[in-house]
Amino acid sequence: SSLEHLASSVDDAETAVAFTGAGISAPSGVPTFRGDDGVWDAFDEGQFTYGRFQRDPAGFWVDRVDLYRTMFDGEYEPNAAHDVLAEFARDDVLESVLTQNTDGLHAKAATRTNSVGETGETETDANEFTTHESILELHGNARRVRCTDCGTRAASDPIVERAEDGELPPRCECGGIYKPDVVLFGERLPKTVLQRARSLARESDVFLAIGSSLVVEPAASLPRIAASNGATVGIVNLESTPVDSVADVCLRDDVTTALPRLQELVDSA
Ligand code: OAD
Repeated sequence: SSLEHLASSVDDAETAVAFTGAGISAPSGVPTFRGDDGVWDAFDEGQFTYGRFQRDPAGFWVDRVDLYRTMFDGEYEPNAAHDVLAEFARDDVLESVLTQNTDGLHAKAATRTNSVGETGETETDANEFTTHESILELHGNARRVRCTDCGTRAASDPIVERAEDGELPPRCECGGIYKPDVVLFGERLPKTVLQRARSLARESDVFLAIGSSLVVEPAASLPRIAASNGATVGIVNLESTPVDSVADVCLRDDVTTALPRLQELVDSA
């Protein structure tokens, strides 16, 4: 089957890379951006541009609080698909997990996976600042804010509460304005992050795109870069994507079904 083909490619790979989007967190309850219940139905992308943040940080923060409450109200837990990728990364089956998601769930899964057996504890803080070497958060992390003057990072929850209580825009102790620690529309991805993502795509011999509509940049071009450098490209997504034509395997499946199956096949290979 195509899943078996993908599993044996992953098993043989020197450098396997996973690239994820909102679809991998949908089974955890985090809303996606596009599609029927997508947040871009209820919100306008224009509310969240970098230009607006600079011109009108107070107005930006009013809308940001709404979006944050829509997307991140509650403690979300990683699901079986995050867990598979965390275990693959721990076991060096995967070189890296590149994600467009800002929910921090890959890091949470990695923390949980890596601590199993050490303490038996699986509880982690969604706002912890641990960075996992194998995870690259291309669009940042929405559970954090960053001061635009001194660069200090802080957890989002209390800052969002202060904005709700009328502190608009919320400010750091140094007096600088806080910005969500995410890449806004019209804002460039940090150069080093983008370079790392592109070189991983180039070096990969297996590139798995998981739960992404693959319509925004650099999402659309990373699997193409991988394919044109000879990688086996696999796509796991409920819907078709504009990149399906360059993929070797397209699994039109739920991530929480497809990834555990893939893991079983890789483990038994
Ligand atoms: P999208 O919302 O565009 O796409 C999510 C994809 O996941 C859709 O194609 C769904 O069909 C698929 N999907 C949903 N649930 C799934 C499931 N259980 N199993 C498998 N597939 C499922 O999200 P992204 O591609 O991540 O940018 O969007 C990319 C970027 O656009 C985001 O990072 C965000 C947004 O504007 C920023 O915030 C900077």
